[in-house]
Amino acid sequence: MQILVLNGANLDALSRRDPSVYGGLSLNELESRIYEWAHALDLSARCRQSNSEGEFIDWIHDAYDTVDGLIVNPGAWSHYSYAIRDALELLTVPFVEVHLSNIESREEWRRHSVVADLASRRVIGKGPEGYREALEYLAGTGEE
Ligand code: DQA
Repeated sequence: MQILVLNGANLDALSRRDPSVYGGLSLNELESRIYEWAHALDLSARCRQSNSEGEFIDWIHDAYDTVDGLIVNPGAWSHYSYAIRDALELLTVPFVEVHLSNIESREEWRRHSVVADLASRRVIGKGPEGYREALEYLAGTGEE
């Protein structure tokens, strides 16, 4: 199974963001873990990150008929980007919405995600392990 892992705005600066909220890992370290977990689950993963909303949308469009599932952490776009929502709505494969932090116990404006109802699964507030849970879920959708 081919899995695309998309991290959005500011996730490239993960190691410089509040470690009490985001855990202090760098994006590189996070992606290395994702590749290891994917390998152990017999999944083929590709991780990408962008601070450009248009590029992020293009990658979702490209995923339409090239992957079997996606893991998407749109960062702050989660809370207001109807353009990313519209792109995700076109997918016919499952996607998992992941957030490192518990957005439901942070500022009011973070509590709403405009992509939540489209996601096959949401994993929130579990730190890097959330990506592992998302991979495990997607591996399960590929089983007969
Ligand atoms: C985030 C939560 C968002 O509110 C925030 O803007 C991010 C990261 C998370 O992974 O916890 O950039 O998506």
